Amino acid sequence: MNIAVIGAGYVGLVTAAVFSHLGNKIYCVEISKEKINLIKKGLVPFYEPSLSQYIKESLENKRLFITDNYQDAIPNCDVVFICVGTPPKENGEADLSYLFDAVGKSAKNANKDTLIVIKSTIPVGFEAELEKISQKESKNEVEFAVCPEFLREGTAMEDSLNPDRIVIGTRSKKAQDLLLKIHKPLPGERIICDMRSAQIIKYASNAFLATKISFANAVANICNKTGADVSSVMRGVGLDKRIGAAFLKPGIGYGGSCLPKDVLAFIAQAQTFEYDFELLKAVDSTNQSQISIFVNKVLDVLEIKDRNGKSLSGKNIGVLGLAFKANTDDIRDSAALKVITKLLDLGASISAYDPQAIKNVEKNFKNIKLTSDPYEALNEKDLVLILTEWVQFIELDWEKVKKSMKNPIILDGRNLLDKAQMEKIGFDYFGIGR
Ligand code: UGA
Repeated sequence: MNIAVIGAGYVGLVTAAVFSHLGNKIYCVEISKEKINLIKKGLVPFYEPSLSQYIKESLENKRLFITDNYQDAIPNCDVVFICVGTPPKENGEADLSYLFDAVGKSAKNANKDTLIVIKSTIPVGFEAELEKISQKESKNEVEFAVCPEFLREGTAMEDSLNPDRIVIGTRSKKAQDLLLKIHKPLPGERIICDMRSAQIIKYASNAFLATKISFANAVANICNKTGADVSSVMRGVGLDKRIGAAFLKPGIGYGGSCLPKDVLAFIAQAQTFEYDFELLKAVDSTNQSQISIFVNKVLDVLEIKDRNGKSLSGKNIGVLGLAFKANTDDIRDSAALKVITKLLDLGASISAYDPQAIKNVEKNFKNIKLTSDPYEALNEKDLVLILTEWVQFIELDWEKVKKSMKNPIILDGRNLLDKAQMEKIGFDYFGIGR
């Protein structure tokens, strides 16, 4: 089948890689010439394990064609997947301008039977707007469907080739059959529903994941006060099959380009339908508080009583982890960078290491000393902070780190390291709710 994919970001490029791997011919439309040039060489503009391998395979097999011109792509295709970003506006609502632009240009070049499938995360209530745009741009009656994406950064190819479920939101049997056919080679349950339900499945899924994390963080804060160990507590909770162990790891809060944005957009959507989503508001505020709770913990472990002004001036802190989570170079809404910004405001001096995110950080954060050597980041420091859950940090030579530090204190914002092992080496070790 010939498939157009609009947008070569995470979702678009992974969608292109997956469907071309499954034997389809993909026409990808991307506005950035810089990205197009990279992709044509088989390179990926961001770090995503194994993606470039699949892109190279698609280029070699002549099953991936990339252009900035809709005219070169859409008329050849039966289906168009819209995969452009829907970033947050200041009030939390999703900014749909890129989506509307992509829909308009796709509709303009569409054939009579083209199906436009929205993979971007889009709030409910915009179906009429999409129809209006397509009627304005196209003589043909374009049909719409919604197929949300559930991939995680860092495991995007794995997730997309082995999905738990494939959600197909359509208005006609014809669109439904076409989407079932396209997805046929992939495993996972099929959820066939209307377009609004498909959109809400996406928001509700991300909102529920965020709720689990905020819940785990709240329980960790109680464990901290009561002397219980949140790792045992969450293991005990997560083993109940009705609850499940995933996404119950406490830390410095959830970040990234999806969970924070989708929680706010779901709250805003609820508001437009006159529902006050109090539960989700609490999830968001718990997530935000986690940053200040962690910063206060930094002051506690350094035994700083003065909580005003530049109370961390003269303190040298070594940081491991800048990305919003492990296995990505993405720093959008990274909790690690929010913590660091607050520490810098308090006068601390910060040296930091991350296996992939340094390039993205150095563009925007001039006052962090960045190094490509984790040992250099921790040398002569008063405190080590673990802010991203990279497994590489577990494998560091912690005996060597201890010898090089001014004060051997670890504050582990991801409960990544083995507390007993670190204490045996001679560190004062503090985690989250441990
Ligand atoms: C998330 C969802 O997991 C995907 O299913 C969804 O497709 C995607 O958003 C999207 O909407 O496009 P992603 O943003 O890649 O994926 O990141 P997650 O793996 O969900 O992690 C989000 C944040 O939660 C990270 O900062 C991570 O460190 C944090 N987290 C995760 C915790 O603090 N504790 C946990 O137990 C799990």
